[in-house]
Amino acid sequence: MDKILVIGCSGQIGSELTLELRKLYGNANVIATDIRPAPQDILESGPFEVLDVLDISKLQLILEHEKVTQVYHLAAILSGNAEKRPLPSWEINMRSLMNILELSKELKIKKVFWPSSIAVFGPTTPRFDTPQYTVMEPNTVYGISKLAGERWIEYYFNKYGVDIRSLRYPGLISYKTEAGGGTTDYAVEIFYEAIRQKRYECFLSPESALPMMFMPDAIKATIDLMEADASRLSLRSSYNVAGISFTPRMLAVEIKKRIPDFTITYKPDFRQAIANSWPASIDDTVAKKDWGLQYEYDLPKMTDVMLREIRNKLG
Ligand code: NAD
Ligand code: SER
Repeated sequence: MDKILVIGCSGQIGSELTLELRKLYGNANVIATDIRPAPQDILESGPFEVLDVLDISKLQLILEHEKVTQVYHLAAILSGNAEKRPLPSWEINMRSLMNILELSKELKIKKVFWPSSIAVFGPTTPRFDTPQYTVMEPNTVYGISKLAGERWIEYYFNKYGVDIRSLRYPGLISYKTEAGGGTTDYAVEIFYEAIRQKRYECFLSPESALPMMFMPDAIKATIDLMEADASRLSLRSSYNVAGISFTPRMLAVEIKKRIPDFTITYKPDFRQAIANSWPASIDDTVAKKDWGLQYEYDLPKMTDVMLREIRNKLG
């Protein structure tokens, strides 16, 4: 029986992925951890421990004591927040990964998931249909940490056989937990403001196209990759994932179809430069070919669910 450790269970992805993993592997077999308190449904459905992933001794204790076989390492400082505190963010993003890699090697952890990001690409990367293999010169501290991470995970696989798997997530959109300080977060905030105030001031310009993905598709892709037979994985850095590409203007039009008096204004801030350096769309043919990446949600379908669920949540 697999025993799973989720690090960063209180964040945008962890708060949903942990529950999905519990459905699959059994509540008691998925240990949720974070440096901050977990959402109520995680606390009520299974084990939770406070863990700072930089505390390697406590991490080792949990891995050994609980006989953990799989780790999902989701703790990180995202792009917008990392630009405000570059060195501490580098420290958290890199040292946490190195702690996981070293302990996975020593304790022979069966499988590890660590997400990369579209932030590994930079202003010299082809912006449209960005290929799996291409120029990668990220110019944000977050992107540099993700690219360095990709190189390290491939190294640990080749040199020590650590079975670590990764997706280059696009911007993730969800309604359960607030987004964690990224550049793509406008596409979450806009739904809350559309319902609360019928207006939104966007921190990116109207034509800033970025690849995005609705959370249920992201969770399915993550679990499908982790369940795939190792022999099917042709690469051990991180898989491109395309999702759906749209601009703030396109998303606003979609919301306006459902909330006719919704208005949007644009006041780009420091995150515009980050968005400008990232791809507008992604080529994910390698992930589709290797392990059958699929999506269910397009922009209209995602907009319907986001508006419905956030209305329910806000009462
Ligand atoms: P998030 O910021 O919402 O959640 C991260 C969680 O990690 C938080 O709950 C935080 O408390 C926890 N954490 C931070 N420092 C910690 C520490 N020292 N020890 C233990 N826990 C700590 O982030 P997210 O959106 O859920 O992202 C999860 C992962 O996915 C990250 O690696 C991120 O880079 C990656 N990713 C996210 C997106 C996205 O759009 N959300 C896109 C691409 C990649
Ligand atoms: N959504 C993330 C961010 O904007 C991309 O990794 O930081």
